[in-house]
Amino acid sequence: MGHYLDSVPFSGIIRIRDMMYSVKDPFRLDQGDVSFDAPDTVKAAMRRAIDDNRSHYLQTTGVPRLLELLTEKLRTRNGIPVQDPNEVMVTTGGIHALFIACQALLEPGDEVIIPDPTWPPCAGNVRAARAIAVPCPLHEHLAWRYDLDELASKITAKTRAIYVNSPHNPTGGVLRRADVEAIAALARRRGVWVLSDESYEDVIFDEAEHVSPASLPGMYERTISLYTFSKTYAMTGLRLGYLAAQDSQLRERMKKVLFYTASNVTSVVQFGGIGALEGSQVSVGAYRDELKARRDLFYGGIKDAASGQLTGEPPRGAFYAFLRIDPRWLPPGGTEPGQSLSWTMAEYLISQGRIGCVPGVDFGANGEGYIRFCFARDRRELSGALESMRALFRSRSMLNASC
Ligand SMILES: Cc1ncc(COP(=O)(O)O)c(C=O)c1O
Repeated sequence: MGHYLDSVPFSGIIRIRDMMYSVKDPFRLDQGDVSFDAPDTVKAAMRRAIDDNRSHYLQTTGVPRLLELLTEKLRTRNGIPVQDPNEVMVTTGGIHALFIACQALLEPGDEVIIPDPTWPPCAGNVRAARAIAVPCPLHEHLAWRYDLDELASKITAKTRAIYVNSPHNPTGGVLRRADVEAIAALARRRGVWVLSDESYEDVIFDEAEHVSPASLPGMYERTISLYTFSKTYAMTGLRLGYLAAQDSQLRERMKKVLFYTASNVTSVVQFGGIGALEGSQVSVGAYRDELKARRDLFYGGIKDAASGQLTGEPPRGAFYAFLRIDPRWLPPGGTEPGQSLSWTMAEYLISQGRIGCVPGVDFGANGEGYIRFCFARDRRELSGALESMRALFRSRSMLNASC
């Protein structure tokens, strides 16, 4: 890698995270971390693992019992025809799963179609594998889904894969079954892979349905399915993810990347994963219900709190509000030359309102003009942020008088 890494961008979200450390009493709506704690089933299993001295090297791809439980989960909940636990690999979080998949699948110069906007490590991981990220817009007027003809038009002779993320970070868009079927048909017809990032599979609201591309006919053989315990079980800091793929040559390559980057995923955490899957799943539904209540609280308050200058429809998945900024908005002191609207808004909300948020442009060019808030924070924090915003936007003088 060496100097090539100088050309791989760092995530803008991390830049904001670093900024937030200098804010006193912040409302941390910037990062995608839930305020819940991991369920007792996870904590008890990790305690047991410590007491049982499970602190030694493990099998490279994961503890057999965990791989067995994951195989069962992928078969029954995702409908993916996983035959054998060897087809599953445990990783250090979802981000590591994506790194491994990109390193093993991509050649220099390969193109990967990614959504615009996108979770920044998606583009970063494609670039880190010396491949080319080709953005394809998601459209607000389509509830942040693709125009499927536009997606098809992005495929070239160099396209190796389509990265699909549904439910989607940062917009909360959820692909419909018909979208996933159309993408699958396209992948089969054009002979490309699907990298399916299903990190938010359990964070789904209203009548939305999560469809795993690898569950569709002829798709498991050309899909790498990526998952994490971070969101479903509130285990963000514990770093546990996994992936599944049918292709044995690809798996051998992925195993090498896994081995050379982690040897094996932290033992105690893997036992926590076993606890999560063997135990009651009540917390998963409870988290989802609470996240829906928080979504409704945030969207119920935002219109009024932002005086109509931040708008959008409640998302049907994930836990982000990706809101359109009124293009006429100006901060009291005016804008800095060359600074984007979304950065200007983010800096204003952070420095004047202590409200963590991420400028839309950090997720891609098509994200410019929007701003992302995470509503997975607790209700008091969300209400505090709304109150702070209300105070900031009260003055009508902030509107550009000329418009
Ligand atoms: C779309 C998407 N994929 C993957 C991840 C990876 O999560 P983790 O590395 O915490 O498992 C995230 C985390 O925010 C995400 O938003």
